[in-house]
This record gives sequence, C-alpha cells and structure tokens, in this order.
Amino acid sequence: MKTVMQPATAILTATLLLLGATGSAQAADEAAARGLARQSNCFKCHSVEKKKEGPAWREVAAKYRGNPDAVTKLTRHMTSGEKVKFEDGHEEDHAIVKSTDPKEIRNLVDWILSLQ
Ligand code: HEC
Repeated sequence: MKTVMQPATAILTATLLLLGATGSAQAADEAAARGLARQSNCFKCHSVEKKKEGPAWREVAAKYRGNPDAVTKLTRHMTSGEKVKFEDGHEEDHAIVKSTDPKEIRNLVDWILSLQ
C-alpha cells in the first residue's frame, strides 16, 4: 500500500505547489470575483464584454495593461466612492464593493485586470 501511495502523493503535492505558484502570481478566482461583483450590483452598469453605463471591464483591463499603478487605482476606484462621470455628463459617486476583506477585493481587481 505504502509503495503505491507515495508516488501518487508526490504528484499531488507537486500539482498543488504548481497551482499555488500561479495562483499567487496572477490567476484570480473567477467564480469568487463574479460572485462579489454580482452581490455588489456592479453588473448593473458593467459587463465583461459590453459597454453599459460603465465601460466594459475588458476595456478597463486593456487600458491599464502594463500600468504599475493599476491595482492601486482600481482598488481605490471601487472602495472610495470617488466621483465618476457618466456618458450623459452627470456625475455621481461610484459604487463601493460590498466587502471589506482586502483579499476578496484584490481578487476582484486581479480578475478585472486579467480580462482580455
Ligand atoms: C451606477 C452605475 C455603476 C455601477 C453600479 C458600478 N459602476 Fe463602475 N463605473 C461606472 C462608470 C460610469 C464608470 C466610468 C467612470 C469614468 O470613466 O470616469 C465606471 C468605471 C469603473 C471602472 C474603471 C475605472 C477606471 O479607472 O478606468 C471599474 C474597474 C469599475 N467601474 C468597477 C466597478 C465595480 C467593481 C462595481 C461594483 C462594486 C461597479 N463598477 C459598479 C458606473 C458604475
């Protein structure tokens, strides 16, 4: 039994390490990100692909690609209620994400920035 289990355990460990490595680098948890966005009503004004009242998140990702301040900017954008301008010219406070967990917020930011 032991001789059969050991190689399997080694492979499993290697796989988990690999997943862990890419996971912390960039790959966001899409289900969690979408869940938080849904719960925060973000999809009322945004979608991944299409412009609604707010820009398509894919466009946002393209705009910030290669920008070292992207994470800071987007985090502030969705947590501070800063004023934003709508197409018709009126301004209002931008929605605030319904979470205070920095990890959950960071995951949503990372996911948006990963869209292409
Ligand atoms: C009532 C409509 C509305 C809701 C709800 C809304 N947004 Fe926005 N959002 C906008 C508009 C309008 C802009 C464009 C602001 C600008 O260009 O100044 C925007 C811009 C953005 C941007 C791009 C910011 C940038 O710097 O380019 C991101 C990211 C974003 N919203 C995320 C979110 C998230 C996350 C939520 C949910 C917590 C959310 N939005 C909810 C209207 C909305």
